[in-house]
Amino acid sequence: MNLILLGPPGAGKGTQAKRLVESRGMIQLSTGDMLRDARRSETPLGAQVAAIMDAGGLVTDEIVIDLIEEKLTAAGGGGFIFDGFPRTLAQADALDALLGRLGQTLDAVVEMRVDDEALVDRIAGRFTCRDCGEMYHDTTRPPLIPGKCDVCGSDDLYRRPDDNADSLRTRLLEYYKKTSPLIGYYHAKGLLSPLDGMEDIATVARGIDAVLDSAAS
Ligand code: AP5
Ligand code: MG
Repeated sequence: MNLILLGPPGAGKGTQAKRLVESRGMIQLSTGDMLRDARRSETPLGAQVAAIMDAGGLVTDEIVIDLIEEKLTAAGGGGFIFDGFPRTLAQADALDALLGRLGQTLDAVVEMRVDDEALVDRIAGRFTCRDCGEMYHDTTRPPLIPGKCDVCGSDDLYRRPDDNADSLRTRLLEYYKKTSPLIGYYHAKGLLSPLDGMEDIATVARGIDAVLDSAAS
């Protein structure tokens, strides 16, 4: 079962992908996480990626498709959750071709719908554990002990450099201009399931489970 989580910045793609990894043993493929790893490499490519991400723009299709191809080929089997990929029609076509080459299909695309105002609030309040990747929010999901990760006990909690008002404005514009056409694209393919991403995390999770269960039957 291969699933795309499609939605604007802050829609909850990463939150739900992590849950599916735990509950269903699926493999999360987040191009955002891959690019954050690439930028730490201190290569010219890393520096180029960092500048684009911090400004809120989209990294070139070529770079992102290469990253996904590498991971898909290495993973072999299926059960992928595509989190933040594809983001353009060119990326969607490349994904079709890659899955076809591996003898795999795309089974469902969940569109997570969230109001812009709520997105701003979610992004502004978000922070993450650098050691285990657990995600928190100042008001909706604070750690039990302030400054300490509930899961691994680390005190290395950080905010992403692109989670600021200017960058978020650009990220939203990029989403509406370049990524939202994918909604029509996957609807036309009969794969799209829109979900109300304004609901709480557990309710959204139940909605995604229902989509996966119906795609499997
Ligand atoms: P990426 O890392 O993919 O960021 P994004 O799409 O902007 O999305 P976010 O990770 O910010 O949000 P999310 O939907 O995962 O929400 P989350 O679960 O964290 O990409 C970053 C950058 O990399 C891009 O700008 C671009 O430069 C580059 N890039 C990446 N992929 C690319 C590609 N394919 N092509 C080109 N460039 C690419 O949740 C957010 C917060 O809300 C958390 O605090 C969470 O606790 C809270 N929350 C989640 N769900 C709920 C809920 N239901 N109710 C209340 N709070 C909730
Ligand atoms: Mg994310």
